[in-house]
Order: sequence, then structure tokens, then C-alpha cells
Amino acid sequence: KQLPIEERTDYLPYPRKFEIAREKLEINEKIGSGNFGSVKKGLLSMADPKNPTEHRRRLPVAIKSTKHSSDVELQTMLYEELIIMCAIEKHPNVIALIGAVTTNLRKGELYLVTEYADNGDLLNYLRKHRETFHNTLIDRKGQVINENYSILSQQTESTRLLPPGYTLSTLDLLSFAFQIANGMLFLAGVPCVHRDLAARNVLITSNKICRIADFGLAKRYTDKNYYRAKPAALPVRWMAPEAVETYKFTEKTDVWSYGITLYEIFTLGCRPYSQVPDEELEAFLKNGKRNEQPKYCHDEVYALMNNCWHKSPGVRPDFNTCFHYLKGKNKPVH
Ligand code: ADE
Repeated sequence: KQLPIEERTDYLPYPRKFEIAREKLEINEKIGSGNFGSVKKGLLSMADPKNPTEHRRRLPVAIKSTKHSSDVELQTMLYEELIIMCAIEKHPNVIALIGAVTTNLRKGELYLVTEYADNGDLLNYLRKHRETFHNTLIDRKGQVINENYSILSQQTESTRLLPPGYTLSTLDLLSFAFQIANGMLFLAGVPCVHRDLAARNVLITSNKICRIADFGLAKRYTDKNYYRAKPAALPVRWMAPEAVETYKFTEKTDVWSYGITLYEIFTLGCRPYSQVPDEELEAFLKNGKRNEQPKYCHDEVYALMNNCWHKSPGVRPDFNTCFHYLKGKNKPVH
């Protein structure tokens, strides 16, 4: 029989420097929820170095907790997520852990505290900006497929290309693709498999920086170059067929999910294989069928997606290749 989580914390490898005193945390509105529990927005009081007895600065944070504090399995999962995040160094494209409340738990609730990303998750962000999306897709002849060609051809930076009222352009989509590859390249080097890479698990800051989040299914691996276990709920539409079949997760199964995430990005948040019911997906993929080229997607990026979806993991690119492939593509070609 497992001990409740608060009794286990003393012998699990949790670095104490991450511990936050409960009273420094103000917990506010709910900003997300799932099978596991919820994410709330909050404020963390930070000590002022010149005046250490007062907590002056208040940092916006996201606070994750489990639905039922009595559910040992959920608590353990959240605890494992915390341990993984403690081991991951800071990187601009990965959400940063700020700390956790693991002792003196109120109602037994464990809190995982991360930095707050103002624009929420990438999936909802893309969907929200569909109506005002500005297509600056550039074809192979260097022509902008866009009614505002004369404006675009004089500009160089993505932000300056956008007329007032527009937030998002094709160049932003390329930038997201590049940033996520960068974050995943870093995680693969830990080494860590994420196992749940999807637009819903990428957060976006006020200045359009992508941060990979939700390490609920992430695993570190050491001796072997894979992690093998069946996660509780499988995100099958994002998973490589061999992962669905064997529960073996590698960098190359994350690369498949990266391809699906690219599809979500370039469709501005469409559901992958939206015409294919769950029970037909396996046969669909076995027949060599894949998602179609999204309207706002360059041929080169669609080629990358398809490579990520190669049936043989060994033929798929790794994140280093994805990163270098996209490097330089997030600028206008002319
Ligand atoms: N939703 C889930 N986690 C979040 C975070 N860290 N910032 C903003 N929204 C979130």
C-alpha cells in the first residue's frame, strides 16, 4: 500500500529549494482543467532583496493541482511531473517551473507552480485568431499569395507586415514551428520524452514566444534510449502508430507528434484527421494515408510534416534536423 503523497515527499528526490510556503501563494480563477484536475491563475509574493521581511513583488503564476486530493494515483502523477520539471534547466521554449507546495498541505492538495503565459495555450490562441489571420504565404517564385503584395514586399519583419487589427500571419506560424522544434531539441537532449506534444500543450506568451508545457506524461530515460509504459489516457491522434502498438516512446515518437502539432498550427487549430473516426484511424495510417496539406502551409513545411509521419521511425528526422530545416525559413524569402 502506498503512503499518501505528503508522507512520501521526504524520501523522494525533490530538491527543497523549490518549496514555496503556501501563504505566499494567492490562488485565483481557473484557467484550465483536464482529467487530472485543474490549473488556476495565481500570484506569488516574492521577497524584495532590499527589504526581505516584506513580500513586495507579486509574480503571476499558473498553479496545477489534482481534482481529488485523496486520489493517490493522481497525486503521484503530479508529483512525478514536478520531479521531471525540477530536472529540466531553463530554456526559452519550455515552460519554467517556479516551485511547488508539497508540505503542510491544505486539504492534502499538492500545488505545482509554473510561470504564467499570457496568451494561454496555442490551440485556443490559433482558433481565436482565425478570423483575422493574415496570409503571407510566399510561393516558390517569391510571389506573395496575398492581396497586399505591394505592402508586404517592402517589409522584412513579421510584426511590421501586419495591418492594424491583425495579430497573426503565416510568418508567425513558421516561427511557432521553429520555436517548438527548438524546445523539443532541448528536451531530447535531457534526455526526456514528452509523450504528449500537441498544440494544446504549448503555451504562448504576450510576445508570441512558445513554451512547451504539460509534462504530465513526460519521462526521463537513462540507460535505454526509450521509455516504455502505457500512459493512462492515450492521445492517439497525436501518437506514432508504433507507440500506440507497443507503448514504446522515443524521440522519434515525439517527432511524429511534432508533425501533428505542425498540422494544427498551419490549419489554425483543426483537429487532426477530422474526417476519420477513432476506430478507423489505425487502418487509415496503415494504408499510408496522412493529413492533407493545410491551406497556409508551404510545400517545404508539408514535406517536413510528412517526413515526421514516416512509418519507419528511423527514417523520420530527429529534432536537430527539424530545427535546422526550419532555421531561416521564418523570414520572408525575398
Ligand atoms: N494554462 C495552463 N498552464 C498555463 C500557464 N502556465 N500559463 C497560462 N495558461 C496556462
